[in-house]
Amino acid sequence: MAKIKEGLVGKEIIESRQGEATIMETAPGKNAKKLFLESYGCQMNFSDSELVATILAKEGYVTTRDASDADLVLINTCSIRENAETRVRHRIEQYNRMKKERPELIIGMLGCMAERLKDKLLEEEKLLDLVVGPDAYRDLPNLVKQAGSGQKAVNVLLSREETYADINPIRLNSNGVTSYISIMRGCDNMCSFCVVPFTRGRERSRSPETIVHEAKYLFEQGYREVTLLGQNVDSYRWNTNRKHEVIDKEKETVNFAQLLIKVAKVSPKLRVRFSTSHPKDMTDEVLEAIRDHHNICNYIHLPVQSGNSDILKKMNRGYTREWYMTRIEAIRNIIPDCAISTDLITGFCGETTEQHQDTLSLMREVQYDSAYMFLYSERPRTLAQRKYEDDIPLETKKKRHNEIVQLQQEHSGIRTKNCLDNTHEILIEGTSKRSEDHLFGRNSQNVVFIIPRGDVKPGDYIMAKAITCTSQTVIAEVVNKID
Ligand code: SAH
Ligand code: SF4
Ligand code: F3S
Repeated sequence: MAKIKEGLVGKEIIESRQGEATIMETAPGKNAKKLFLESYGCQMNFSDSELVATILAKEGYVTTRDASDADLVLINTCSIRENAETRVRHRIEQYNRMKKERPELIIGMLGCMAERLKDKLLEEEKLLDLVVGPDAYRDLPNLVKQAGSGQKAVNVLLSREETYADINPIRLNSNGVTSYISIMRGCDNMCSFCVVPFTRGRERSRSPETIVHEAKYLFEQGYREVTLLGQNVDSYRWNTNRKHEVIDKEKETVNFAQLLIKVAKVSPKLRVRFSTSHPKDMTDEVLEAIRDHHNICNYIHLPVQSGNSDILKKMNRGYTREWYMTRIEAIRNIIPDCAISTDLITGFCGETTEQHQDTLSLMREVQYDSAYMFLYSERPRTLAQRKYEDDIPLETKKKRHNEIVQLQQEHSGIRTKNCLDNTHEILIEGTSKRSEDHLFGRNSQNVVFIIPRGDVKPGDYIMAKAITCTSQTVIAEVVNKID
């Protein structure tokens, strides 16, 4: 089911996780060429859309909210599960109907699906004018011109170096308080179920100077929270190779813990979050950095995928259930009030009832604050597709999914209840969806708080006392503002 959300603020996008769509818009212009940019997938894809808008703004394009008014329609796509791709195909057909009436309209596909299908859609189905992979966005001005002159245009080359490090992206649909910074691209992990290494290419880290520079710039613009993004942030490394050997002895080396601290030092008033951590790579040094810096938030997203070690092995995740639990213990010991969330997959190849029970028992042991839960979807070219049979019936996948969703709801309710009667430091992000008279913000653990507007405004830090709660949000009153 296509679910198009307009005008989402950044924070809500990360909550929606993979698979939903949003339409991104910059300030409207009068005579400029108009770009309609629709994005699917993970937060990295949304950040890429901001890069694309920045690159095309230099060519005179402004974004529009109305596809029927656009000269150029770009769909930034996701391949993570089959339904993500099905949704995009429907959208492309819709835009093609529009093109029948306006043949000059250029329709392009960007992102992971573009990389995966390459020129297949261009050649076989003739539905697109433009296909551009995630490492080729600098080439967009040329490719758009080429498409405009009636030639089909395609660039899906993956790069080992491209990090778009020098581009400070314009922020689309921003709430002016929270923002995202890409710190790396690609993934070298090869989890057997996952298409990302094929669509995003090899892992590479962006220079720490440009990351810190972007954080400073955002802070000066009034932003008060940045989320550092990578498929596996714990393997961020600058000036060291995969074996952790120094590449250039004259230059500084930076690992993820050190990068976190550099960004935290931009200002104590700038909150720092990050996503995603990998259980096999998350070090105590990272946990100590969180403990020692008040503005690095006490929240870790640590995808487990399954609670059974044999399934984890088949998934090629690089850890066992026991190892994962030692990482959870390390978090609890070093940062006692840290929130932990996860990703889970039900019905992976050959998953038995007992193995599914292991996932439920791990969930009970950890009591996650929140979780993103998915049915296994076989993806072309992945190791799992080549090696294992996708043999769990859809009904069973759904039944198991329902069971984990229900258990998670219980656990999510506990986390909001645990907030009650205490005071919390909240960064205010914007107006509540339900009422103009209320604002919403989050505590360090990422729990959403609703407070009466009073004289508080977005970007303010306040102390708030939690009064009541639902399983999702806490209703609070303001104790005092923090200067
Ligand atoms: N490195 C990122 C991965 C992004 S994909 C991370 O670890 O968060 C986000 C989640 O999508 C994964 O953690 C996994 O739970 C889910 N996922 C990935 N491939 C999938 C597939 N083929 N079927 C179902 N869920 C999948
Ligand atoms: Fe995919 Fe695994 Fe890389 Fe995450 S860490 S993007 S799940 S291969
Ligand atoms: Fe989807 Fe690509 Fe992100 S497959 S989850 S948009 S990296």
